Amino acid sequence: MKAPKTKKLTPSQYAALAYLSQHPSGDFHDLQRAGSGGGATTSKLVSLGLVDQTEDREMKSWSITEEGAKAFASGRYSLANAEGDAPACSVSSGKRGDRVFTPEWCARDMVEHFKPTGRILEPFRGGGVFTDLMPTAEWCELDEGKDFFDWVAPVDWIISNPPYSKTRQCFMHARSLANDVVFLVPLRNIFSGHGFVVELHEAGGLKEIRFYGTGSRLGFPMGNAIGAIHWRKGYAGETRFSFYPQNS
Ligand SMILES: C[S@@+](CC[C@H](N)C(=O)[O-])C[C@H]1O[C@@H](n2cnc3c(N)ncnc32)[C@H](O)[C@@H]1O
Repeated sequence: MKAPKTKKLTPSQYAALAYLSQHPSGDFHDLQRAGSGGGATTSKLVSLGLVDQTEDREMKSWSITEEGAKAFASGRYSLANAEGDAPACSVSSGKRGDRVFTPEWCARDMVEHFKPTGRILEPFRGGGVFTDLMPTAEWCELDEGKDFFDWVAPVDWIISNPPYSKTRQCFMHARSLANDVVFLVPLRNIFSGHGFVVELHEAGGLKEIRFYGTGSRLGFPMGNAIGAIHWRKGYAGETRFSFYPQNS
């Protein structure tokens, strides 16, 4: 008889299922503490029929279904990113700004200029241009089953080029984790919305904006001005402007 096929779960889905298999139910905080991301993670488990969701006075909680308990106990679901496994969750965004990879010269300048230290996170690793330059940095990459929105541990610095369709959500999550956040972005994405500009000045402020030239200088599919913004927790001073010398 053929052994049933093992299905892969991302680390955060697996953590949620493992937690609920040990506890009668859990809310968002329980699941986060257990290493799961909460919302998106659990809705995926609900859609697979492994987890039930209940809502009581606006408090959501989750519990494992009989099917989920059986499947988990029998090992039918396993963790995705054991060595050699294909990524469980490969999201290929059609948005053209979500997969632009930073040229080495630009990533190098950002690392040398901003000098991140302590515990560093590259939340959107892509091809690894930043992590190659900062070998001790920790990282996430959705294509490898590591969703940044599942990351909850505090860090000193976050430095990256985020998926542009989600820049604001990425910044808000980064701000909740790090003392210093450096994101390479088309600058109009940052300054065209009033709400985002306000958020950039809450709980800290913009210490610097470093210009790298137009998108075409970086090989990006947009022609707008591209710059690295540096937000620092508790910063209330003025914003400094600097220019990458070779492109100014
Ligand atoms: C704009 S690319 C930049 C990659 C790399 N940081 C660089 O500078 O070359 C953004 C990357 O983030 C990844 N990504 C998108 N959403 C993510 C998420 N929620 N968590 C982790 N990675 C994500 C995409 O797969 C893509 O590789």
